[in-house]
Amino acid sequence: TLKVIYDTDPGVDDAMALLLLARHQRIELIGVTTVFGNADIATTTRNALYLKQKLGFAAPVAEGAGAPLVGEPDAPPTFVHGKNGLGDIDLPQITATADPRPAHQLIIDLVKANPGEVTIIAVGRMTNLERAMREAPEIVGLVRQVVVMGGAFGRNGHTGNVTPVAEANIWGDPDAADIVFGAAWPIAIAGLDVTQATVMTDAYVTELAAAAGEDGAFVRAISAFYQNFHRESAGLDGFYVHDSSAVALALHPEFYKTETGAIRVVTEGIAIGQTIIKPDGRSYPPGAWDGRPSQTIAVGVDAEAVLRFYRDTL
Ligand code: BDR
Ligand code: CA
Repeated sequence: TLKVIYDTDPGVDDAMALLLLARHQRIELIGVTTVFGNADIATTTRNALYLKQKLGFAAPVAEGAGAPLVGEPDAPPTFVHGKNGLGDIDLPQITATADPRPAHQLIIDLVKANPGEVTIIAVGRMTNLERAMREAPEIVGLVRQVVVMGGAFGRNGHTGNVTPVAEANIWGDPDAADIVFGAAWPIAIAGLDVTQATVMTDAYVTELAAAAGEDGAFVRAISAFYQNFHRESAGLDGFYVHDSSAVALALHPEFYKTETGAIRVVTEGIAIGQTIIKPDGRSYPPGAWDGRPSQTIAVGVDAEAVLRFYRDTL
C-alpha cells in the first residue's frame, strides 16, 4: 500500500481524485491538506471536510495557505468550479472538523512519523509544500515521492490554461513551485501535456453513474457544472482529467511516457507561471538550470488505461 498525503483545493476534479484515493485498495490516505485556489481557503477547507463526511474517510483534514508566497491570491475561478467550488451542488451541514494543526505542520508530522513511506500528491498551489520544506528541510529526504498535477511543458501542443504559457496551479504561486521543484525530493509531474489528453466524455460519466452506485451518482452531480464550462470554453464533449491524473501517475507510472530533467518556473514578467524543463543530456550555457535536481515529467499517456483505472476503482 501507498501512504498518501493529498494536498488539494477542492475543486470538482480535486473531489473526483479524492474519491479515487478514498476507494483504492492500495492507497492508505493518511492526511488531507487544503490550499487556496479553485476557491478561497475557507471554502476549499469546508469542501474537504464535506468530502470527509460524504466519502467517509478517516484521515485528518488540515487547513493550509490562503495566499501565495508573494502577493495576494487571485480571484477564484468560479466559472470553472462554481461559486462553492463543487459545481454549486447543495451542501449539507458540515459536522466534520479540521485538525488543529496548520497544513504544513500536519505534512511535517506525518512525513517524520513514516520516514521513506509517504507519497505527497499535490494538486493545487505548491504553497503548503514550500512552507513545510522551509520549516523542516529534513522532510525532503524522508518523502518517498511528490506527485504533482501542475504545469505544462509544451508536449502534444499543451502550453497553458490560465495564460498562453501558464497552468493554473503553477501560475497561482509560481515562487513556491520553483522552490519545490528545485528541492531534492523525487518529483513526478502530470501537467496539461497529459491531463488535457485524458477526457471523461458525457457517455463515460453516464455509464459511471449507472455502474458505480452512490459514488458514480456523486461524480455526475459534482461534474455537471465543470462539464458545462469545458463545453463552452473548449467545445469539449466532456472534461479534462486533471487531478485524478496525479493519482494515476502515482499508482500506475506505466500508463505514462516520461522525460527527466531540471525544472524551472518563471516567476516574473509576461511568461510568469510557465514551467520549463531542461532535458537530461542536453547542455546549454551556464544558467538557470545549474545545480537543480533531475525531476520527472509525464509527456504521453495511455488515456484509455487511465479512464479504465478510474472506473474500475470506483
Ligand atoms: C488544475 O487547476 C485546477 O482548476 C484544477 O483543480 C487542477 O488542479 C488544472 O489546471
Ligand atoms: Ca486542483
